[in-house]
Amino acid sequence: MRQLIAGNWKMNGRLADGAALVGKLQQAVSGLECDVLICPPATLLHTLAAQLAGSAVQVGGQDCHTKVSGAHTGDISAAMLRDAGAAWVILGHSERRTDHGESDAMVQAKTRAAVAAGLSPIVCVGETEAERVAGAQDAVVGGQLIGSLPQDFAQGYAGVVAYEPVWAIGTGRTPSEADVAQMHAHIRKTLVSHLGEAGRGVRILYGGSVKPSNAAALLALPDVGGALVGGAALVADDFAAIAHASHAVAAAARAG
Ligand code: PGA
Repeated sequence: MRQLIAGNWKMNGRLADGAALVGKLQQAVSGLECDVLICPPATLLHTLAAQLAGSAVQVGGQDCHTKVSGAHTGDISAAMLRDAGAAWVILGHSERRTDHGESDAMVQAKTRAAVAAGLSPIVCVGETEAERVAGAQDAVVGGQLIGSLPQDFAQGYAGVVAYEPVWAIGTGRTPSEADVAQMHAHIRKTLVSHLGEAGRGVRILYGGSVKPSNAAALLALPDVGGALVGGAALVADDFAAIAHASHAVAAAARAG
């Protein structure tokens, strides 16, 4: 399965530097054997989607509301993201869960709304450092998955899951390769028990301090279906290097 290399720009980027970053990226990732996605702030979505039309780089949002429209000041619906040119949306990122108190039930409602609007969700899960120290990571991540993904998606789930340990986001720290492989196997098992056969095909991204120097090793791990990249997604050369690492993993797999 093709890996997905997704860039989460978070609350970064203005029109001028966003356009420049995307201009460089477009060249640097063309023809690679992986899917490439950027999730810029909503203010840039339409412009960058237009700039990227016909290129290999897809565009996504960083959050959406559960409703299609209405009296929800400051919010953006999945249908609006789609209208602006998005194909994907990140949901339940730990910064949303922390800064905006998003529960699994809210993430599940947003996931439904995204799919109904024709977007592919990237549903984020991950334990805090205290939870890992307590040995609770499998229970926490399993609970988030079951709570965030509607079970009736057993008919087929168009989105992906991103495992992002909270303590690895923006810190430069990553779990060991063995811990990433163990958690991805646990997530796969949980997806299959929750969604049945549909759970086998869902790509599981790793996120949290992915950079050019660690991407090749992380992306080569079993059941790692791509990466969700924050800081390194703001530097065209770094993000492109991560996509090239994914391409190399695909080429090596093909060569057997
Ligand atoms: P990071 O962020 O790559 O800067 O650690 C990842 C994320 O929050 O998605």
